[in-house]
Amino acid sequence: STAAVLTAGLLATACTSPLRTPSISPSGAEGAGGIGAEGIGDPYFPRYGNGGYDVGHYGIQVRYDPATDQLTGRVAITAVAAVPLRRFNLDFTGLPTTRITVNGQPATAEQQESELRVTPAAEVSGDFTVEIDYAGVPQPIKAILGEGGWLHTEDGAIALGQPESASSWFPVNDHPLDKATYDLAITVPEGLSALSNGTPEGTTTADGWTTWRWAERAPMAPYLTTLVIGDYRITSGSHRNRPILTAVAKSFPEGGDADAAMARTAEVADFLETQFGPYPFESYGGVVVADPRISYALETQSRPVYGPSFFRAGSDSSWVVAHELAHQWFGDSVSIGGWQHIWLNEGFASYAEWLWAEKDRKISVQSQFDDVYGLMDWTVPTGDPGPANIFSGAVYRRGALAVHALRLTVGDDAFFKILKAWTTERRNGNAVTADFIALSERVSGKSLRPLFDAWLFGTAQPPVPKP
Ligand code: ARG
Ligand code: ZN
Repeated sequence: STAAVLTAGLLATACTSPLRTPSISPSGAEGAGGIGAEGIGDPYFPRYGNGGYDVGHYGIQVRYDPATDQLTGRVAITAVAAVPLRRFNLDFTGLPTTRITVNGQPATAEQQESELRVTPAAEVSGDFTVEIDYAGVPQPIKAILGEGGWLHTEDGAIALGQPESASSWFPVNDHPLDKATYDLAITVPEGLSALSNGTPEGTTTADGWTTWRWAERAPMAPYLTTLVIGDYRITSGSHRNRPILTAVAKSFPEGGDADAAMARTAEVADFLETQFGPYPFESYGGVVVADPRISYALETQSRPVYGPSFFRAGSDSSWVVAHELAHQWFGDSVSIGGWQHIWLNEGFASYAEWLWAEKDRKISVQSQFDDVYGLMDWTVPTGDPGPANIFSGAVYRRGALAVHALRLTVGDDAFFKILKAWTTERRNGNAVTADFIALSERVSGKSLRPLFDAWLFGTAQPPVPKP
């Protein structure tokens, strides 16, 4: 929920607060002339998100029938206008809307490609509410990085994707700068599961339909929302006084590799807590899906989703659990202020794989660094890889190399202090690369600009820092 503060407050704070310097340009995003901008100002994805307001909460009710692929939805949004608005946009990829109100008054809406342009009956200022009813057959989003969003599967559906997904199934301010809390009520034919983020709030069944309720009470970036509907084997309990719920598609053999990986969720989270500081959310979990079109795993908040390819007979898949759970600190709790900063997510999640391999399989972090360092292609800068490279080795593996270069430079003590200060000071917020550099310099007392310039922005192999 910091977008309005960041955009509206930029001019006031940029000179005095180097720790709060989003590199997102606010030009027009406040709502020039009372019209909210159609993008939040992300240099990589200019139409992602919207300007002029900040969402606090989404209340989402969805009914989905896999037999007909028909979705009926209602979203109730509470938001704050940064400036008085006579028009504003939501991101929505085109399910027809049947009713829309703003502050309880009928409003009009116009769909323009992936933007829903909303004109309230009266100008809004300060707190306002939006309610939208919609219905139709949801479609995946065709983005430059492959598909994301709603997928109709054999037994149900999966809503998943990065950097975009949410706008395929609910109207949303779809950028990590606008984090919000969520309540979800998902109604599906009795017998199917409907899994989502956060704390399970129970199910109710009537007339052959079951409603599954979920609550994510920590601010969440929209791309971290997920919905998984189908035949799942659910394991639930509590861990350290928090709910833990994992689910595996029933087509995986009971007691097989997928079940085994999910069973290590709590153990991996506890290990990462020793490295990164307290686990940031009120629930734990994971979902393994069977649809081969999900070729990746994604750190959906508190309950990552894992594609089937990670679970091959006899292989140890706990590394991907370590990666996705590390994102709960790096990416989910501390979220990027723009997509060019994605290494702050992926570099640290990849580094967590090295930490986990050292702990679990006695393979030293240093030897893993050495292997990757020798093979790295240095031509793409980690800190500004370009929109087509946000999931490239330059971000993941070179990002992890940069993290370890910092550790070698400042020493273990300062390094783990930096990580813990980052996750504490930035918890539930947003941050950019410059913030991480500033914090590293402050905690270590060292000047680190040249180090980060070389490891994040250079295009040639930097020398390994001498401990
Ligand atoms: N953030 C995810 C991970 O690190 C990767 C998502 C890749 N996205 C995609 N559309 N292929 O595991
Ligand atoms: Zn990742």
